Amino acid sequence: MRIRRLVAQGFRNLEPVDLNLDAPFVVFHGQNAQGKTNVLEAIHLLATLKPLKGRGRRELIQWGGNEGGVVGWVEAHGIDRQYRVKLTKSGRQAELDGKRVSALNEYFAGIRCISFTPLDARIVSEGPLYRRQWLDRAAFTAKPAHLGVVRTVHRILSQKGAALRLELPDLAVLDALDDQLARVGAELVSRRVEMLQALQPHVSAVHSTLSSGVGTVKLQYKTAALGDSPTDRMKSLRSKLEDTRGNELRRRTVLAGPQTDDVQVVLDGRSARMYGSRGQVRSLVLSLKLAEMMAARERGLVPLFLIDDVSSELDRKRTAHLVGALSDLGAQVLATTTDPDHMGALPPHDTLKVAVKEGSLAVFSSK
Ligand SMILES: Nc1ncnc2c1ncn2[C@@H]1O[C@H](COP(=O)(O)OP(=O)(O)OP(=O)(O)O)[C@@H](O)[C@H]1O
Ligand SMILES: [Mg+2]
Repeated sequence: MRIRRLVAQGFRNLEPVDLNLDAPFVVFHGQNAQGKTNVLEAIHLLATLKPLKGRGRRELIQWGGNEGGVVGWVEAHGIDRQYRVKLTKSGRQAELDGKRVSALNEYFAGIRCISFTPLDARIVSEGPLYRRQWLDRAAFTAKPAHLGVVRTVHRILSQKGAALRLELPDLAVLDALDDQLARVGAELVSRRVEMLQALQPHVSAVHSTLSSGVGTVKLQYKTAALGDSPTDRMKSLRSKLEDTRGNELRRRTVLAGPQTDDVQVVLDGRSARMYGSRGQVRSLVLSLKLAEMMAARERGLVPLFLIDDVSSELDRKRTAHLVGALSDLGAQVLATTTDPDHMGALPPHDTLKVAVKEGSLAVFSSK
């Protein structure tokens, strides 16, 4: 997959952009606060319809403006398509080849990205929410239909929360919602576990290279929805929900379900969250992200890879490994850095360097 051209208007601090990006490596470089991350924000929005840093979409619109937009020409499987996202204060609209899309699966069939940013250290070193979000994003990148399941679970949970907050909760309503939660929650858990199983061999392989063969990594999904099939998982989750009902009624809040699950990242038998050093955490996060790319290649479509702030995140050894691995995968890499030399010797014929200054982009060397 390759983004060949990017157009952006009214987007954060960027001057109107029209940039040819048709190269395997694109490096956006410049001093702090010039707009480098904002360019990645634009590409990320195009590929996921979500902001890169989890802010609101409204904040992507340029200060003082009422709307903004990004257009990308993206090639996948030899087919070029035009993707457009329009942002207004009231929401966003996605278009594919000039037509508004109603089925998002069609939109996401030809555009995907995996991002690696300084905030990703949280996946390993902070609470379970970050690991669930990572896994759901990974599963969405692999199979966009995952998003529908995540949204359905959220809807059931918010309805259940509202039902529990009523002065006199209706037990029949709670029973019906728990039935739905057991069914859809078990599906969500099955999808997450399937994704983890697909990633595990790649995580092990990448980590072994990064750590020169020292240490083994295991990803373990922790859930009450135990079982080998979605049906078994549903039964386990239903009995957990039944056992928790009394507590939920007393505390008037939802206490059980896949929103409490965790993915344990275990390094040499110990929790990496509890015991991992900073360097170990960075290698682990990089292993997770590269594993997503490798699993994607097995499925036949290699997403765009966005790296924000390479020099602050990775030392030269890890950067060299990352660049080599992504190049072997045939991925298009779009990276930001304050120090372009940090990326090592990128192949000059395959690298486009874009200088970013006060929101303006200038290609100053290319093939
Ligand atoms: N909605 C917006 N409209 C206009 N400017 C914005 C908006 N949102 C953020 N900015 C500004 O964009 C500037 C550039 O931000 P960006 O994060 O892209 O910088 P950067 O080049 O990645 O810097 P660093 O190297 O520090 O990461 C910031 O100074 C910020 O104030
Ligand atoms: Mg930045």
